[in-house]
Amino acid sequence: MSSKVLILNGPNLNMLGQREVEIYGGETLAEIEAACRARAEATALEIDFRQSNSEAELVDWIQQARGSVQGIIINGGAYTHTSIAILDALNMVDMPIIEVHLSNIFQRESFRRESYISSAAQGLIAGFGGTGYLLALDAMNQLIQPENKD
Ligand code: DQA
Repeated sequence: MSSKVLILNGPNLNMLGQREVEIYGGETLAEIEAACRARAEATALEIDFRQSNSEAELVDWIQQARGSVQGIIINGGAYTHTSIAILDALNMVDMPIIEVHLSNIFQRESFRRESYISSAAQGLIAGFGGTGYLLALDAMNQLIQPENKD
């Protein structure tokens, strides 16, 4: 049976490709999702790829992940820097969590250097654009399907 990974995207990430392209790149979220699907297929992972502008919906999805997926990859968007509710939800799930950001959040405004998600995450990938999601999937694959390690 293949393992399932929930890939969560927070606010404004639905606007990728039109949004501050010099920072986030020209790739759309649909293109990132397609690349993730191809990578997941190659590594026998199943993915559930979602985006919401609503903090409540993201919290609901994290709660529902308990018992139904084996790992979570999350780009919390701006909620990364504000949401104790998302941190609390992540602290309730007993599975590997990987934080992703398209941009290098440590190179930008000081308020972006603080991440509530990081304390719940196994690791953080930032600054590689959409490729970061693929790096996160590879890392997740090693964490939850170590038998597939090259
Ligand atoms: C982001 C970084 C956040 O600071 C920002 O609010 C985003 C996107 C990133 O992927 O680089 O919406 O999470």
